[in-house]
Amino acid sequence: MEGNWKDNISTPALVVDYGLMQKNIKTMANFAREKKINLRPHVKTHKCPEIAKMMLEAGASGICVAKVGEAEIFAESGLNDILIANQVIDLGQIKRLIELNKKTLVRVCVDSEKNVKDLSKAAQKEGVSIEVVLEIDIGLGRNGIQPGEPALNFAKFLQNQKNIKLVGLQGYEGHLISVLDPELREQQAHNCMQLLVDTRDLLNENGININYLTGGNTTTYRFTGSHEGITEIQPGTYVFNDEHHYRVCPEFKVAATVLCAVSNNPTRRIYTVDAGLKSVTNDNGNPTLRDYPKSKIKVMTEEHSIIRTGPKDTFEIGQKIEIIPSHICTTVNLYDFLTVVKDDEIIEKWDVLARGKNY
Ligand SMILES: Cc1ncc(COP(=O)(O)O)c(C=O)c1O
Repeated sequence: MEGNWKDNISTPALVVDYGLMQKNIKTMANFAREKKINLRPHVKTHKCPEIAKMMLEAGASGICVAKVGEAEIFAESGLNDILIANQVIDLGQIKRLIELNKKTLVRVCVDSEKNVKDLSKAAQKEGVSIEVVLEIDIGLGRNGIQPGEPALNFAKFLQNQKNIKLVGLQGYEGHLISVLDPELREQQAHNCMQLLVDTRDLLNENGININYLTGGNTTTYRFTGSHEGITEIQPGTYVFNDEHHYRVCPEFKVAATVLCAVSNNPTRRIYTVDAGLKSVTNDNGNPTLRDYPKSKIKVMTEEHSIIRTGPKDTFEIGQKIEIIPSHICTTVNLYDFLTVVKDDEIIEKWDVLARGKNY
């Protein structure tokens, strides 16, 4: 192909730097190997089977997804050890989860009696057994049973449900993403994980023998993955990283950007580009510009963003610029495919196959 790789891409486009992504995958896999802990990456970040397979090749033991629709896509692509790190409530989705379990191991998190009864009923009807992970609320306040006695009571309830097998505990410390002080985050991550370990001990003392404890994300993996008793980490964002997480975890390089083109220069130091909210999300704040840290995106509309440049930055109409998303997971979900660039050449286009599979 002629010219710079950026000239050969129709904008806006989601571009993945293959080398940086591979580095990120290896950094996390090496950490897990050193700590002798399972790595189960959350693939909601990339939604792309090709990348999930690379993660497994690097040492991951399975994957996490958030939705049955995602589990179906990854199972069809050959992934055979999946944890839905979330609850599946809808009866139609429960039916699909049961079907999927006839072919592939797909575990699911639970935290309500009604949901477990629905799962049990559907599993009995089809003659299959469902492995469930009891989610414990370790501080996020989103999902989960409270640690300690409430969790023990729930585990006892689970033991009496037909075709339901309790295999472990999940505790997700997502609220620590906003704790910027690393020492505080470390301390709080250990506190959260100790709640999970203490709950496991309580269950074990009461004859419920489980050992599988899963949790962690890109900002806490080091602490969660070093905590005695935790057997698995489930980070997701690290594969691409983004502006928001990079501030906290610079060991993971920004490997995915949105390539856009300058379309107008309405007034001095003000430029318009052809990527707006339909191409890059701003739920974690406006995105930034890769090579122009002094230039800022001020306004975002559906198809455009308006930049005020730094004093020394100037752009040409048609110039291609890389935007660093502030939240890569919601941005990836806007794209049909990823354009993969290696050594300044476009090498692949990978379908974001699980895009939009949030049901
Ligand atoms: C239950 C659960 N586990 C793991 C993750 C991965 O977190 P991160 O993408 O910050 O690494 C998430 C993120 O939403 C999650 O909800």
